[in-house]
Amino acid sequence: MSANSPAPSVRPLIAGNWKMHGLRAQLAEAQTVRDALTAGEISHGVDVMICPPATLIALMAEMAKGSRLAVGAQDCHWLPQGAHTGDISAEMLHDAGATAVIVGHSERRADHGELDRIVKAKAEAALRAGLTAIVCIGETAGQRRAGLTLDIIARQLVGSLPEAGTAADTIVAYEPVWAIGTGLTPTPAEVAEVHAFIRRALIDQYGTQGREMRILYGGSVKPSNAAELLAVPNVNGALVGGASLKAQDLLAIARACKVDAA
Ligand code: PGA
Repeated sequence: MSANSPAPSVRPLIAGNWKMHGLRAQLAEAQTVRDALTAGEISHGVDVMICPPATLIALMAEMAKGSRLAVGAQDCHWLPQGAHTGDISAEMLHDAGATAVIVGHSERRADHGELDRIVKAKAEAALRAGLTAIVCIGETAGQRRAGLTLDIIARQLVGSLPEAGTAADTIVAYEPVWAIGTGLTPTPAEVAEVHAFIRRALIDQYGTQGREMRILYGGSVKPSNAAELLAVPNVNGALVGGASLKAQDLLAIARACKVDAA
């Protein structure tokens, strides 16, 4: 089984990560995305998701109900409930209408000291609650300069992925820390190297399921570079930060997705 021949059934996903941006007025952008999807402006072979701040999840889920726009969250606690002031469980996110949750984003790892074992517990909580886990990994600039990229990726994969993940409920997002919000991106060859490495690791861990798991690229994806990045082998979509705040940019990125003829 070659790491460079992903199963044709891998549907690309374009997921927007709004981070800590967005008051209720920002929902108009999500509405525009929903309407474009409903109008058939984006291939039916592409999945589109927005992960708004927690305060907007229920409102966005209500607005997107019955449409092709999926709603995700940006983080969860690993326990289903308890005395953890300010935290939100995966079950609560599911109850609010989310179908997925990002875990282990580098900003969470940096701002909140989240270690791989915490990320793994959160990914497993997501699965327990019936959510898809979008598990983020990626090296820093210093680690890349030191030639440690694949070592870091290997360690994060082993440490962060849920034990019982399947292609339906587990997604990996490769986000080089130095590419997030900087306008810098790795070359297509660099992305290809890391994504092929991740594919091999997923096949090792999950067998056939690993062959079909989606591996997203994230870090300064925008309309002008999306086609090039999304055409890289084993890139099954993108996790988009800044550009996802504008409906037209997110839609342009979704349009840039190469879709396998069914
Ligand atoms: P960016 O963020 O697209 O603004 O670089 C990506 C991310 O952090 O998910």
